Amino acid sequence: MEWGMRNRLAHLVQRDGKALFLPIDHGYFQGPTHCLERPGETIKPIWKYADALMMTRGILRNCIDPTMPKPIILRVSGAATVVGEDLANEGLITSTKEVIRLNAAAVSMSVFIGSKYEHQSLSNLAQLVDNCENYGIPVMAVTAVGKELERREARYLALCCRVAAEHGARVVKTYYCSDGFEKVVEGCPVPVVVAGGPKTETQRQVFDFVYDSIQKGAVGVNLGRNIWQSEHPVAVIRAIRAIVHEGYMPKEAHELFEKVKAGKS
Ligand code: 5RP
Repeated sequence: MEWGMRNRLAHLVQRDGKALFLPIDHGYFQGPTHCLERPGETIKPIWKYADALMMTRGILRNCIDPTMPKPIILRVSGAATVVGEDLANEGLITSTKEVIRLNAAAVSMSVFIGSKYEHQSLSNLAQLVDNCENYGIPVMAVTAVGKELERREARYLALCCRVAAEHGARVVKTYYCSDGFEKVVEGCPVPVVVAGGPKTETQRQVFDFVYDSIQKGAVGVNLGRNIWQSEHPVAVIRAIRAIVHEGYMPKEAHELFEKVKAGKS
């Protein structure tokens, strides 16, 4: 692997082999998402606990201080919204020149496997990989499940992750599933990170699935709503960081969450 690619990947996946990405890209298809109305304000108390932040160029340019010392994963797919015909009908929305101009450490795009736009999104992925590899920029494939969350089962997720890696993604983001998640990771030759999805009913559920994902081979998380939609985002991200980077068990993470929440840590 070339130095530039290795260096960028090392800024994402840390020396311990683990990663905590903080995505704030949700507005690109659903507008001003709850708690993300002013992304710059949302991340103020929490960015320092993340290893990298994921967002679109519009949010980066307009809401993020360029001196913030964190790597950026630039979302470069879009052009479909929740009020449009089909969320899966995405295209590439940012040129490689712009990615370089914005000094992104990586780019990310969604692939919609099993949808009407499967071929389009996978072709876009391959094209993006071709362009970005020229400059040593890693591509993270976001395996989207759209509205069909019931498809969050190991066989489908494993297929998506493997296909994304075979098309050249250097990192793959997927969803956690309680049954057979280890098979999702085993079948994927590149690092896997898990997304959070909608806010869980209890706080402990997040710590449980993050812990289980790591135990089963994920290198980390790309977790948004379950952090910044919490009433205690600092406590949540610190507890998740402790699981990802310090080997905390869910119970210990929950204790840390309570301590931070109470202002005792
Ligand atoms: C949206 C994304 C998000 O970055 C991803 O889903 C992670 O966010 P959350 O934890 O809120 O699900 O790719 O398309």
